[in-house]
Amino acid sequence: MKNNPVIQTMLNHKSIRKYTDKVPSDEIVKTIVRAGQQAPFASQYYSILLSRNRDRNPYKAPLLFTICVDSHKFELIMARRKWRLVTNDLTLMLFGIQDAALMAENMVIAGRSLGLGSCFLGSAPYRADKIAEEYDLPKRVFPLVQLVMGYPAEDPPTRPRYLMEFTLFKDKYPKLDDDTISEAMREMDDGYLAQDYYRNLNAKIRLEGDREETFTYDDYSWTEHICRKWGQWYPDPKNLLEQFERRGFYITGKRPQSSSTNIT
Ligand SMILES: Cc1cc2nc3c(=O)[nH]c(=O)nc-3n(C[C@H](O)[C@H](O)[C@H](O)COP(=O)(O)O)c2cc1C
Repeated sequence: MKNNPVIQTMLNHKSIRKYTDKVPSDEIVKTIVRAGQQAPFASQYYSILLSRNRDRNPYKAPLLFTICVDSHKFELIMARRKWRLVTNDLTLMLFGIQDAALMAENMVIAGRSLGLGSCFLGSAPYRADKIAEEYDLPKRVFPLVQLVMGYPAEDPPTRPRYLMEFTLFKDKYPKLDDDTISEAMREMDDGYLAQDYYRNLNAKIRLEGDREETFTYDDYSWTEHICRKWGQWYPDPKNLLEQFERRGFYITGKRPQSSSTNIT
């Protein structure tokens, strides 16, 4: 494989969950956000809120970014141009999520290149109401994900990823046979077990219903973890759809005219 400082920075990525007391300067923050902004975009459909209150995030990181899909400020531009938003909110959300995610990952890489570690927090969409209240978000701004950042007080090993053969498919999608699947699962599970990752985080997901627990931290690893997540959680999209609607986004149907900020 080729290597250079950019590739090395990316290959060194690891989520950081322990931070020193050192406070990143405003210049550091500005540099990171500016590098984030330079990500490719469909329409810059995002805004970032920053809190320096360590008590606002579970890892007591000195920086907490809340990354939002933002239609509000674009609709203000449309109104200036005397246009009315017609595109449905599912399409806008899809492009907005891509814009915001690309920008956020650029921030992660920029941060690491400056010696900062980070970790995403994925619960924001489910706490959208609360975050909206805390940060005074206007309607049509949806908190997508949060990103904590600061100087690392730990240096864990990098975490495993799927094998290339399970990720990059040339020319056409292959038939995934048993051996390939087993090999992919083994790579992930052995990799996480070697780090004692779930034991260290005490992160075993509880089994619901009458399923009997047969795993200990000696064999509980990534594939079981991820199966427990998506095999048990959020079967009904209702709660999430309600969060979207309370923020003024109508994902499953037509947006009521009044929810759009550009109509005066
Ligand atoms: C959208 C998203 C949400 C995440 N949410 C959380 C979270 O709530 N808490 C946490 O500790 N890590 C969270 N993570 C970090 C992942 O657990 C981590 O990236 C993954 O285990 C791979 O490890 P690595 O980043 O160290 O390579 C999240 C990552 C992403 C991309």
